[in-house]
Amino acid sequence: MRQRNTQLKTYSNSDRKIDPVCGMNLSEYADVVEISHQEKKFYFCERACEERFKKNPDRFQKRPLIELADIWKTFNLGGVETKALAGLDLHIWEGDFVAIIGASGSGKSTALNILGFLDQPTSGNIFFNGKDVSKLSDDEKTEFRSKTFGFVFQQYNLIPWLTAYENVTLPLIFSGKKVEAKKIETSFQEIGLRERSTHRPFELSGGEQQRTALLRALANDPEIILGDEPTGNLDSETGNKILNMLIDLNKSRKKTLIIVTHDADIAEKADQVITFKDGHLVRDHQVRKKTYIRPFA
Ligand SMILES: Nc1ncnc2c1ncn2[C@@H]1O[C@H](COP(=O)(O)OP(=O)(O)OP(=O)(O)O)[C@@H](O)[C@H]1O
Ligand SMILES: [Mg+2]
Repeated sequence: MRQRNTQLKTYSNSDRKIDPVCGMNLSEYADVVEISHQEKKFYFCERACEERFKKNPDRFQKRPLIELADIWKTFNLGGVETKALAGLDLHIWEGDFVAIIGASGSGKSTALNILGFLDQPTSGNIFFNGKDVSKLSDDEKTEFRSKTFGFVFQQYNLIPWLTAYENVTLPLIFSGKKVEAKKIETSFQEIGLRERSTHRPFELSGGEQQRTALLRALANDPEIILGDEPTGNLDSETGNKILNMLIDLNKSRKKTLIIVTHDADIAEKADQVITFKDGHLVRDHQVRKKTYIRPFA
């Protein structure tokens, strides 16, 4: 049985045995998969990662697009401390569709918020293309976030008093870019919302609101799309449409796609499934339909 050190740790590469594919820290495990490749030793949490590595060893010997290294996050609410992330190590590879699964309260949303610079870790490092971005100033982080990430949330998070069109232009306004009306109108048309761009969120169905949120997420043409249960509030048909749009952005426009989900059907379509437990990764990249049905949904 693995015993975790619950003390806050600082990042040090020396004593860490990292799975190059998923990024999981294997230092405390005795039984890891070990292979030699070009006279170097590599360790994997399980066969799934070993197989991914063997299919493309060059890719996984580089630095990942995003690397979370020993991330801890403690919330303090009214004197009560909650450890939401406890030594999270994670690799995200450019162009992948990654599904993050795990029980309620396991730290998935907290991790996604930290990945997208919506929140700061209590300790730990974040590397982006090998560069330590945890040290950026607040202004630099804000700029980096708006340039790099598009967010889609379960609750859509549209501004209620703005029209759909105005909601979509917000990221452009915040990042000081020109609002090209024609381009935005075309994007509304392409997503089947031509007649809806002047409506406010309360005049739109859930699916229409989520499509608007998707356009807003794409306004800055971000490299990475982060979705926190983006289809969680939608009926299955509408949810599937939104999901297919997201997957299409990953496949045809090469956007890295990271989705937190309780839906095994979504996770099944991903290149990489990451399972969270108690604020860190566990050695499980399998999708099991029964396991991920939400008990409180
Ligand atoms: N802002 C906050 N203040 C205090 N505690 C928080 C806060 N955000 C999250 N937590 C706590 O941190 C832990 C992880 O929460 P998180 O939202 O990341 O879980 P999750 O895996 O996304 O769960 P779910 O599947 O239910 O969305 C939980 O115990 C939660 O109560
Ligand atoms: Mg969550």
